[in-house]
Amino acid sequence: MDFRSDNTHGCSPEIADALARAGEGTRSSYGRDEITARVRAQCAEIFEHEVEVFPVISGTAGNALSLATMTPPWGSIFCHEDAHIHREEMNATEFFSGGAKVVPVRGANGKIDFEELRREIRLAPVPSCISVTNATEAGTLYSIDEMQAFAATKLPLHVDGARFANAVVATDASPADLTWRRGCDILTFGGTKNGTLGADAIVVFRAELAKELAVRYHRSGHRASKMRLLSVQLEAYFTDELWLRNARHANAMAARLRDGIARVDGVELIQPVDANVLFVRMAKNVAKALEEKGYRFFDWAVFGEDAWRFVTAFDTTEGEVDALLAAIA
Ligand SMILES: Cc1ncc(COP(=O)(O)O)c(C=O)c1O
Repeated sequence: MDFRSDNTHGCSPEIADALARAGEGTRSSYGRDEITARVRAQCAEIFEHEVEVFPVISGTAGNALSLATMTPPWGSIFCHEDAHIHREEMNATEFFSGGAKVVPVRGANGKIDFEELRREIRLAPVPSCISVTNATEAGTLYSIDEMQAFAATKLPLHVDGARFANAVVATDASPADLTWRRGCDILTFGGTKNGTLGADAIVVFRAELAKELAVRYHRSGHRASKMRLLSVQLEAYFTDELWLRNARHANAMAARLRDGIARVDGVELIQPVDANVLFVRMAKNVAKALEEKGYRFFDWAVFGEDAWRFVTAFDTTEGEVDALLAAIA
């Protein structure tokens, strides 16, 4: 039973069906097809705003291309010290931006501390933009009010929404309120962790940024000629609110696991569990025994030696959660 990540899971049946049909007929290439146009219209409706949409195969590409568009090479991009762009993406943002600096900012529970942010902005030679992950890498959330505080800095804002759906359902805020109404210029809208087989979308809320991004997208090899491969997935993902239904389920499974873990002695939750990611402190021999029973999860050095991460997904079952809880107990 796999609790390693939400991207170890496959895809929703609706996405598999869409993929099975993706090869039918001829279609305009490079994103000029009707499916990609429909995805743009779906996103405009979801966000209540005109948008440009660039389908991508990875969140890393989405983040790096977005941020490169929002900064000059000599600029500073502020993010949390545990942000994926800082810790995991092989300096893709620095590379695609031609050398802009990613400045890590401290803060509890995976969230940027506003005092620290203000200090880093003051000290940077050329502050260019902020990147906020919502839901965060620590499985916590930024509320609408916290997003407003980022808007107050007046710096352009990027949201890494690898788990944006989980944030929307957990905060019960509208997608617009978590993005452009709070100053977000570009969102990397995740799908891969929440039911697509491998498709995320860059959603651009400011038309002038979309122009430059379009060139970077093509130049970096991300403008797929058979864009339908990605667009069919995104269309199915947004149809009948599959993206929200999947995230609601993943979050509910995490809450079930959280409540169960809270009842077990000797095992401790390290962070608040707001979305679908849990961090647990437990003895190494317990973790080893779980692994021997076939449970899979990651150790998480960010929180120390005896910290482990469990992630629930769109297709995690109650039975799997309950079996894990019984095994831990
Ligand atoms: C918060 C966050 N952002 C971005 C990504 C990048 O996604 P990918 O692995 O598709 O490049 C991940 C993946 O784990 C993530 O957790």
